[in-house]
Amino acid sequence: MEVRIFKDKAALSDHIADFVIEEIRKKTSFNLGCATGSTYKGVYERLVKKHNEGRVSFGKVRTFNLDEYLDINKDHPEAYRNYMSRHFFDHVDINIANTHFPPTDEHAEYESYDGFIASQGGIDLQLLGIGTNGHIAFNEPGTPFTQKTHKIRLADATREANSRFFTSLSDVPRYAVTMGIDTILGAKRILLAASGKDKAAIVKTFLEGPISERVPASALKKHDDVVVVLDEAAAQDIERKHL
Ligand code: GLP
Repeated sequence: MEVRIFKDKAALSDHIADFVIEEIRKKTSFNLGCATGSTYKGVYERLVKKHNEGRVSFGKVRTFNLDEYLDINKDHPEAYRNYMSRHFFDHVDINIANTHFPPTDEHAEYESYDGFIASQGGIDLQLLGIGTNGHIAFNEPGTPFTQKTHKIRLADATREANSRFFTSLSDVPRYAVTMGIDTILGAKRILLAASGKDKAAIVKTFLEGPISERVPASALKKHDDVVVVLDEAAAQDIERKHL
């Protein structure tokens, strides 16, 4: 895995936005795997800005989001489709019919998302964040690496971390549907971003520790094209001599 370290969140966001634009330019059509969370707000903001400056079009881009809450009102601002509309889709020239999320109907076959992604040519670049417990998308510790898109019960730590976006902890959804680790490892290229001192401990564990289902992000070591983008605060505990 290649590790790139930037001064702060602004520099990290600039770099990721430029990286995404460069990748999009390489291809005549492009499948982007999208992540949500606070880490990516600045990235989408910059992509919108560069679109407004005429530097990038999303007309040939299809998006596939990693995950979505299940027990949430569809109109809730924190539903991930609404996050994506608010921060990205509503402000660029993407065809909304080309923006995809895992199925959320009660009787949905969640795994069908994997087949759908494959039928669209697979994901060219998957963007990822990381939870303080090592989750990627909503694959909580202990999730088998063989899992495809599936329904999960959110870990208490994840609900507590995400309660900052809701009025109270009891309002945070308990269930979500998420791409599995196997789905994520199917992407051609992966970029994982982490920002802030709260992520420093898990960043060290996932980069320097063994591959283990207890640390879902460690599965990325099984993929041969992963870029890890950190700011100084998230990178503060790692051994620089190996970089
Ligand atoms: C959330 C999302 C993840 C995200 C992670 C980190 O719960 N499901 O996709 O990467 O937690 O979020 P943040 O960037 O807000 O720290």
